[in-house]
Amino acid sequence: MEKQETTVRGGEEGEKCNATSEASAEKSRLVCVLHGPNLNLLGERDPAVYGMDTLSDIEDLMRERAASLGLAVEFFQSNREGVLVEAVQSARSEAHGIVINPGALTHYSRALQDALSILTIPVVEVHLSNVHAREEWRRLSVISPVSTGTITGFGVMGYVFALDALAGLFAKERRGYEHSGMPTVGDSA
Ligand code: DQA
Repeated sequence: MEKQETTVRGGEEGEKCNATSEASAEKSRLVCVLHGPNLNLLGERDPAVYGMDTLSDIEDLMRERAASLGLAVEFFQSNREGVLVEAVQSARSEAHGIVINPGALTHYSRALQDALSILTIPVVEVHLSNVHAREEWRRLSVISPVSTGTITGFGVMGYVFALDALAGLFAKERRGYEHSGMPTVGDSA
């Protein structure tokens, strides 16, 4: 699949998720996909746990699914907590939903938790591995209480499921439901 220009970004100040660089964002709902520390090393990092796919493979997969769901997607990765907090703050005014894999920040970042708690848009927390089946310290997520829902343990497919979940929530929202319910099978955006 051919790569578009605006997608894989990380760490640059002033280049957080925003609606201006995706041409389709005006019409489509914009989903901001945030990746935390060390996820830039996917493909090399512990492949037995995280698989062989790179961040760019995941983004290709998501771009494809987003297109079929009529969603616009923006991607951002950073190894720095404060930069991710700023990305969440930017998404607050620009995006309609967030998919976030906060990496190890999941387990202790109150700053990221606070930033996400301010949002009124749906947030899907994603983990490639099943964090509940690993070390004890990974079982606590400070992000889950401020997320709409969590997907953990399905590898790269978890990111696709996250887009499906958001599309279901957007469809319900359009019909006047709150975005707290389960999307019904067969719902489309
Ligand atoms: C992870 C799980 C975290 O515990 C870990 O620190 C990561 C990746 C996952 O995707 O499975 O960096 O979020």
